[in-house]
Amino acid sequence: MPDTPAPSEGRRPARLVVLVSGTGSNLQALLDASADPAYGAVVVAVGADRSGIEGLARAERAGVPTFVHRVKDYADRAEWDAALTASCREHSPDLVVSAGFMKLAGAPFLAEYAGRYVNTHPALLPSFPGMHGAADALAYGVKVTGATLFVVDAGVDTGPIVDQVAVRVEDDDDVVSLHERIKVAERTMLVDNVGRMAREGFTISDRKVRFGDL
Ligand code: GRF
Repeated sequence: MPDTPAPSEGRRPARLVVLVSGTGSNLQALLDASADPAYGAVVVAVGADRSGIEGLARAERAGVPTFVHRVKDYADRAEWDAALTASCREHSPDLVVSAGFMKLAGAPFLAEYAGRYVNTHPALLPSFPGMHGAADALAYGVKVTGATLFVVDAGVDTGPIVDQVAVRVEDDDDVVSLHERIKVAERTMLVDNVGRMAREGFTISDRKVRFGDL
């Protein structure tokens, strides 16, 4: 009698487009994970809002195609958003992952990737949204912070939460040490959850993200 097939068996790997603005250590974690076919997802392209960053170099070293759209090269934000959307579309992603991408996507992008655009944020949302999650948590004096993976909606870091991981703030932390410790936990959470989203599917209902759609 054959074994019961795993849900992912026989399925093609999910296609990931990853958006970056900087170092790309979260991207690297996804690239490393996707080297194993059992992961169930592959990074098919990496996009950025600036050139010359380590995130793009990581993609190039991995042989993954890249695209760059700088806001300042477009007449307005709507044109930039259209270009970003078009470049993503060329790679037919199942999921777009913002991994340290420091731009807010516009309405057309969000419409095209509604429910399929996730972002990782270095704080426990809804605390400390915005550009400086680690610094804001440190300044506030919280004892526990962390990282949040969420499905992007039209707000700033307000979308339905996929998962969170807690990280203790130490007395001698500065922003760099705290953010680096958050990023260690964040990378594992990102890889684990993107893999589950790819292998199991997921649903979003009443702000609740649940794995499994079959
Ligand atoms: C991550 O902590 C992410 O949450 C934040 O910026 C950092 C990006 O790190 N928005 P990296 O570029 O993946 O190393």
